[in-house]
Amino acid sequence: MSFHEELEARTKQAEEILQKYLPAKEEAYQKTVMDAMHYSAMAGGKRLRPVLMKECFILFGGTGEIIEPFMAALEMIHNYSLVHDDLPAMDNDEYRRGKLTTWKVYGECMAILAGDGLLNFAFETASNAFRMVDKECGTDPAQQLKTYRAVGRSMQILSKKAGIYGMIGGQNADIEAEEQTTPLTTEQILFIHANKTAALIQSAMTIGATLAGATDEEIAALELCAYNVGIAFQIQDDILDVIGDSKELGKATGSDAQNHKQTYVTLHGLEESGREVERLTEEAVAVLDGFSGEHEFLKELLLHLVHRTK
Ligand code: IPE
Ligand code: IPE
Ligand code: MG
Ligand code: MG
Ligand code: MG
Repeated sequence: MSFHEELEARTKQAEEILQKYLPAKEEAYQKTVMDAMHYSAMAGGKRLRPVLMKECFILFGGTGEIIEPFMAALEMIHNYSLVHDDLPAMDNDEYRRGKLTTWKVYGECMAILAGDGLLNFAFETASNAFRMVDKECGTDPAQQLKTYRAVGRSMQILSKKAGIYGMIGGQNADIEAEEQTTPLTTEQILFIHANKTAALIQSAMTIGATLAGATDEEIAALELCAYNVGIAFQIQDDILDVIGDSKELGKATGSDAQNHKQTYVTLHGLEESGREVERLTEEAVAVLDGFSGEHEFLKELLLHLVHRTK
């Protein structure tokens, strides 16, 4: 299979897992919020975070289905972050993934509730992994205990990286920086990128490794690798906001400028930003190459992201 065929297959698999875990649509008093959750979650998207999670699970020899509720949960959290990020009070965007944003279709109230709904349902979904331990490890008590611990740790990673010490912390600094008239310091821009974006990518990669039984040292090395991937990913997102094709991206370009957002690109220019994406990715790949496990596809995926156009 070519890299692109493989990427397509893995993206499709991540999407099917997400779909399987989303709440069933039903006629109920909360139908509207559930419809809005489905609308935002099933609108397409690269499904990068669950794909990265699964690849890091494979890298450390993970097998079985215990990874699946976490793949779905993280994509739900990512989607909630986008639903709220697009609200008029935040980035005020009308298109995402080539479709109207959730607030444009369902109104601001329902978009806020759909985001809240996805966030809570993410943890309800991830907690399914506790109930899968028996099926995944049979009756060996030592293996069961090890797996329960790994699931517990993964829940902790998922909650921490999405919260004030992760994505929400980054969104806080990002929004406040819009009012700042002096140039952002390198420390500030790195804080924003590390938290609003890299945190969920770290969550993806380290949960994959944790559930596969990687050691603390391996998880720490992978977390650093994921930091680079996340910073590079956000710099490329900022580059595409300037030079991307809005049709291909599925979201408006020029959104950052309209919001007076200082980005890596406004601070360092397009050329240097592009070089930084390459440099960070090379460092990340070097970490991966230090692991003996299967990572050919993962490596190609990171290299593919450097020149992504959407
Ligand atoms: C967009 O994330 C938000 C950022 C962190 C830059 P993605 O570019 O992964 O969005 P989708 O899920 O593919 O639409
Ligand atoms: C979003 O960053 C990061 C989130 C936590 C949602 P952006 O605001 O740059 O993402 P896009 O460009 O709207 O996808
Ligand atoms: Mg934003
Ligand atoms: Mg935005
Ligand atoms: Mg952006």
